[in-house]
Amino acid sequence: MVKPATILKTMPVLAVLAGLGATFALAGPIEDRQAGMKQVGKAMGAFAGIAKGEAPYDAAVVKTNADAMLAGMKQAFANFTPGSEKGPPETYAKAEIWSDPEGVKAAEDVALKAVEAMAATTDEAGFKTALAGLGESCKGCHTKYRRPKE
Ligand code: HEC
Repeated sequence: MVKPATILKTMPVLAVLAGLGATFALAGPIEDRQAGMKQVGKAMGAFAGIAKGEAPYDAAVVKTNADAMLAGMKQAFANFTPGSEKGPPETYAKAEIWSDPEGVKAAEDVALKAVEAMAATTDEAGFKTALAGLGESCKGCHTKYRRPKE
């Protein structure tokens, strides 16, 4: 007879996790918004590389990164949920995110429009113009609603 412990060991990890049910969250809102923002930062890094001439301009690469950035932003913005003001893990979101929802919404809309404008560009000149607007939109929110990492 095979012992239950042996069966558990041979079961794929994912099957075990699935068995715990869909309500078993692997991450909370802080992790989710930071992961979303990391994805945004990664796409921004790709844009910066093109702008600096470290990578050639490629409309398809720009579009791919703009789409990834949009998804990351949506994930981040959906996770400034009440009750997630304090970690762990350490969060750099300022209290104003929760006390000034209208201001945050406005900053989010500016950023979402800026990414959409980037996704719609088809040439290098348009890319550069869109990148300037995009950079401003990050700063606009971060200066008001994010503490710098020490
Ligand atoms: C509407 C507000 C808002 C906008 C717009 C915004 N961010 Fe953020 N971002 C935040 C907040 C708040 C945090 C801190 C989240 C936390 O620690 O809980 C953050 C964190 C980050 C981080 C750190 C993620 C980590 O934990 O490692 C990066 C990178 C980042 N943002 C990049 C960007 C870039 C690039 C843009 C523009 C393309 C942008 N963000 C636009 C609010 C915003």
